[in-house]
Amino acid sequence: MTFNAIVLAAGKGTRMNSSRAKVLHEAAGLPLVGWMHRIAADAGATQVVVVVGYQADEVTAALPAGTATATQDVQGGTGHAAAVGLDRLEPCDVVVVLPGDMPLIRPETIAALVDTHIAAGAGATVLTVDLDDPTGYGRVVRDDRGAVVAIVEHGDAAPDQRKITEVNTSVYAFDPRLLGSALATVGSHNAQGERYLTDVIARMVDDGHPVARVVADPAEGAGVNSHDQLACAAAELRRRINTRWMEAGVFIEDPARVSIGVEVTLAPDVRLWGDVHLAGDTSVASGAELGPSVHISDSTIAEGARVWYSVVRGTSIGRRAEVGPFVSLRHGTVLDEASKAGTFVEIKASVVGPGSKVPHLSYVGDATIGANSNIGAGTITANYDGYRKHRTVIGDGVRIGSDNVLVAPVEVGDGAWTGAGSVITTDVAPDALAVARSQQREVPGYAQRRQARADEEKA
Ligand code: UD1
Ligand code: CA
Repeated sequence: MTFNAIVLAAGKGTRMNSSRAKVLHEAAGLPLVGWMHRIAADAGATQVVVVVGYQADEVTAALPAGTATATQDVQGGTGHAAAVGLDRLEPCDVVVVLPGDMPLIRPETIAALVDTHIAAGAGATVLTVDLDDPTGYGRVVRDDRGAVVAIVEHGDAAPDQRKITEVNTSVYAFDPRLLGSALATVGSHNAQGERYLTDVIARMVDDGHPVARVVADPAEGAGVNSHDQLACAAAELRRRINTRWMEAGVFIEDPARVSIGVEVTLAPDVRLWGDVHLAGDTSVASGAELGPSVHISDSTIAEGARVWYSVVRGTSIGRRAEVGPFVSLRHGTVLDEASKAGTFVEIKASVVGPGSKVPHLSYVGDATIGANSNIGAGTITANYDGYRKHRTVIGDGVRIGSDNVLVAPVEVGDGAWTGAGSVITTDVAPDALAVARSQQREVPGYAQRRQARADEEKA
């Protein structure tokens, strides 16, 4: 049995009070629509079709490349949206329909919904939840024997129907053929003047097809309609991700202050202190220790590396390398084994070789530093001439003095030294000392003569 999924994501989401479509708002590193796509795929859907409409281009761009989308030109209701999605769907035994805003639903719950649907031989199976306050939701109406007979929207419900606390989550499994024929008969004579997907339920019952139901945990059925609910959902998603990594052997000092993106991978015995944010395509090897206060994206952190109070983007940090406090590592940086980027240092598109150190107050850009070299405090690679970027090449065992400017393109040979305060504009030969600053001059007895002049002027 195969199943495909349709995610309904064409609506605006008025209650967000935002210019962005609701499904574009992010929770735990993914937009809501990205979560729904991911959940459907994780549940085992062969194909996932996303129905887009409001801000269609932006919503499509927020999905994994190659995702099948169907465009609903006018938001004519969930029934119309489902019909648009169905047109784009490849043949399958079961179709699961999901709203665009329920990121807490678990893939296992969807898989169980499909199993129940198949076992019941149902035309439709509805995922429901029981709510203390069902206001606003579609009520699940059942007959004397407990069988589902209809879903009635809040605005269309009679007073006794409004007392029903079991509500529709907007997650369903359908026989695709029966869904198509039922949708073709659904009109828009209702409170909202829209074609309701929920009307399909009564239609199927009328036609003699059984409708089944699965009752879910209300926490999973929580939709996101406001920023408040978005923040709650995001906290729960972060909590689930953190719990999974702790079970896999990661130490997290305070999970409420750590966020780990869905694409991030961590090895056992990684240690995370407070305020650590790991995003994008990041992987962290065993024994690495991150935080407090670290933001790392799209980077690789090797065994035993240590990073604290720093921002790291698009960087590879080698085994036992040390980063921080107060370091910015930017795209294309490679810190080799046991190297160091220390306090108030920025490094971009550069290689710092094994055992080499950039300990204090430096900017290193477009540079290659060999093994076991030391870059003195306050050194700048002047990589930009106002038009183009140039490279600085520093060999092995080099000692760059404090407060140097290395004007690229320039090369400092293996074992060379440079004097403090030098502006290095030409290549330095291996093992040489280059000093590029004015000679110190001394004026003996100056202080007394200056004082005498001051006394004369006063008199
Ligand atoms: C819907 C259900 C309701 C259920 C509730 C659960 C209907 C008629 N009602 O109501 O029974 O209790 O969800 O949250 O289905 N969408 C489109 N195109 C449209 C309209 C909506 O793609 O033309 C999408 C929205 O982007 C959203 C989803 O469908 O992701 C649900 O739409 P929404 O307007 O939130 O439905 P509710 O009124 O909440
Ligand atoms: Ca809703």
